[in-house]
Amino acid sequence: MQVYLNGEFLDQKKAAVSVADRGFVFGDGVYEVTRVVNGKFFQEKEHLDRLDEGLRGLKIKLRSEIRDSIPNISRELIQRNGHAEGEATVYLQVTRGAAFPRTHTFPEPEVPATVYLSSGPFKPHKELHEKGVDVITVPDVRWTRCNLKTVNLLPNTLARQQAKEAGVNSAVMIRDGVVTESPNANIFAVKDGTLYTFPASNYILNGITRKVIIDIAKSLDIPLVTEPVRQDDLYELDELFFTGTTTDVQPIVRVDGREIGNGTPGRIVKSIQQEYNSRLYG
Ligand code: PDD
Repeated sequence: MQVYLNGEFLDQKKAAVSVADRGFVFGDGVYEVTRVVNGKFFQEKEHLDRLDEGLRGLKIKLRSEIRDSIPNISRELIQRNGHAEGEATVYLQVTRGAAFPRTHTFPEPEVPATVYLSSGPFKPHKELHEKGVDVITVPDVRWTRCNLKTVNLLPNTLARQQAKEAGVNSAVMIRDGVVTESPNANIFAVKDGTLYTFPASNYILNGITRKVIIDIAKSLDIPLVTEPVRQDDLYELDELFFTGTTTDVQPIVRVDGREIGNGTPGRIVKSIQQEYNSRLYG
């Protein structure tokens, strides 16, 4: 397997970044994960736009020639790795680069950003899409700039691990008494035929899949309200589901051991899954 690192394609085992890299020392970087189906990058422009937003948010300067070559690098990478056929994901990470000595302020003089891309085969979680998953609620202990897709993912990894240890698939994060998102996906709820999702703000990552689902809801005439769901109302919902690049549209059938709806994926999530699949694979 090959990866791209700072201008070169390398054997994944030989690729290494400096111990002075600010991604390693401070978590000072952003990332994107994009789905690829038979060589076609799903929502590629949207992912790159969000990368730009993240870089601006962290004030990381990426040379425009490099930024503009990301689509070509991604294509070359999936070719080299045999991922241009079937399903794959491409992971992209940009950090502020490597600089000694360690200082919180940005390196002076500036250093080149570290640019890393990898690709891997992807298998959709078909069984979970059909049956739905169990989750637990956990407090959302993240910072208040969750709109930036940074590599600082400790609250997310700890929450996911907590869910695993509780014997469930994932977690629903709660901040100030309302549902925000999951450690790696956005959340939609259905009550009385209306879809609810947390508004795009600094408290959630504005998922690329989330935006596709909002568009699908419009096309299917499903009323949508961008308002948070209260934790107190969580167990009384008719339907609940995750959306994300590697999650697709995944029904949630049990929260904290309590059934959502009748404990099986509902009508609305199924219709959204169908339309989502036709956009992803169409
Ligand atoms: N996670 N919210 C969070 C916190 C996420 O990490 C993700 C994606 C999403 C969904 O965003 P999108 O639809 O753009 O994938 C929402 C990626 C896939 C990950 O960390 O692997």
